[in-house]
Amino acid sequence: MSPEHSDSIEMFKGKPLRPKVNHNAILIVSILGANIVALLAFSRYCYNPESPVARDEPEKRDLKAATTAVSADSISTSFHHLMLLMNDSRKDMRSVFSELIRMRQEVQELRERTEVLTARIAELTEKEDSKSVSITERVKEVLEQMAEEEDANNPWMQWAKGQIPKELQEYTALRKLPLGWNPALGSGTNVASVGHGCAYSKDDLAKYMEYEVGKECPDDEPLQQKLILKGCEPLPRRRCFARKPTNSTEPVPWPQSMWTVPDDSNILWNAYHCKSFQCLNERAKLKVFEDCLDCFDLDGREKHRWVDNAGSLDFLITEVLKLKPRGTIRIGLDIGGGTGSFAARMREHNVTIVTSTLNLAGPFNNFIAQRGLLPLFLTISQRLPFFDNTLDLVHSMHVLSNWIPNETLEFLLYDIDRVLRPGGLFWVDHFFCVESQLDLYVSMIDKLGYTRHRWHVGKKLDRGPEFNERYISALLEKPRMEV
Ligand SMILES: *[C@@H]1O[C@H](CO)[C@@H](O)[C@H](O)[C@H]1NC(C)=O
Ligand SMILES: *[C@@H]1O[C@H](CO)[C@@H](O)[C@H](O)[C@H]1NC(C)=O
Ligand SMILES: *[C@@H]1O[C@H](CO)[C@@H](O)[C@H](O)[C@H]1NC(C)=O
Ligand SMILES: *[C@@H]1O[C@H](CO)[C@@H](O)[C@H](O)[C@H]1NC(C)=O
Repeated sequence: MSPEHSDSIEMFKGKPLRPKVNHNAILIVSILGANIVALLAFSRYCYNPESPVARDEPEKRDLKAATTAVSADSISTSFHHLMLLMNDSRKDMRSVFSELIRMRQEVQELRERTEVLTARIAELTEKEDSKSVSITERVKEVLEQMAEEEDANNPWMQWAKGQIPKELQEYTALRKLPLGWNPALGSGTNVASVGHGCAYSKDDLAKYMEYEVGKECPDDEPLQQKLILKGCEPLPRRRCFARKPTNSTEPVPWPQSMWTVPDDSNILWNAYHCKSFQCLNERAKLKVFEDCLDCFDLDGREKHRWVDNAGSLDFLITEVLKLKPRGTIRIGLDIGGGTGSFAARMREHNVTIVTSTLNLAGPFNNFIAQRGLLPLFLTISQRLPFFDNTLDLVHSMHVLSNWIPNETLEFLLYDIDRVLRPGGLFWVDHFFCVESQLDLYVSMIDKLGYTRHRWHVGKKLDRGPEFNERYISALLEKPRMEV
């Protein structure tokens, strides 16, 4: 740690500035919030170490002086916090730098906003007879006007202002907690969550929220999936009863359930063209290109995946598990896992896998559940519902590929990294792209800094060699230390 940093703390603690300040500056300060002001002051120091802090120019009755005065306490708190952070960072200086960069951006944004605000106040006070309208009133007006301008560019805010269905209003209303402020939650209010993408599907969402409370929900499974595929994820909750199959039976008992096609009567078929598993399986004979047409056939290809040698791109579960000490791969996620056969195979090795899947043209979620495995109805766009550094394994076959916008994919890869524990495995199974894109995707994957246990690139020929497609299959391990 450099001595300048320690000095600066003493300086902040020892010389709180108390210059006379004018009214509107104080007001702006209180609007911006003391913490942010501390950042402002701090960033000036950080980025201009030659002339540290506002110390040298206390006589300036400008915004900067005022902000320093008001926030002397929070500055020292912030510095204490930073000091702790820097202490830790002897082990890892990088976290401090990224924190600084984040702070700098925040400060930059605030500066810009403050400039706009000050300019507009000046403009208004010039025009106005300042005796008839107080500065406070003017500032309020300006702020409201600015907020409105921001809302005009925000589909969510526009949507929230229109007519919204009564049940949606009920669901999204802010509610005070009955027992008051809850220190553990850090809040006195309950806020229901709903995906911001709902703003793009106003009409469909209105249709979805049109129902009678306490009665059976409308028959609208396709509408639900359409909504989440358009970013309305999570969907709002409803107060109606989901439809259910009317003649269902108890599931097949464990462990036979894993490899037994469930009874048709346990599925609500309304949403699908097919009304039976036999119908779904017959689709595999159709000469159309679609993934997973044969996934419901548990005696076909599904039975052989990950357990029978099929080529260099297909890794065997037994070999993958051998990479790590016995029994240390225990929990994981399969992204876009079709009918759950990966989870079934892993389960045979005492590994619990949650399978995220949609119900595209078939009851994938219900099927997985009927097998006695855990389905998760989730698109690839939603943040993974797991905490940081928790899972032993993330697997994904045929899903992470070039159909995903590459920035979206980058966010997703970082999210996978987030949920994997150090030493956890990321099994990239048949990632596909065209040959010219290989560099892009390889560098994107390499950015994670994972150890490559296995890495195979092969030709993808199912659509024909003229497409020049490639597969990547890789077995990667999240490092324990920053690299
Ligand atoms: C920094 O860490 C050392 C030990 O590693 C400890 O003695 C010291 O109190 C720490 N300083 C702060 C400000 O936490
Ligand atoms: C309910 O299921 C049983 C056994 O699967 C079947 O025999 C019966 O016909 C079904 N009834 C209806 C109304 O679908
Ligand atoms: C799974 O766990 C059971 C019970 O602990 C054990 O008997 C069995 O050998 C394990 N199977 C594998 C493949 O590790
Ligand atoms: C996404 O792809 C485009 C062109 O294919 C490329 O210019 C861009 O840098 C890529 N973005 C990322 C995050 O890799």
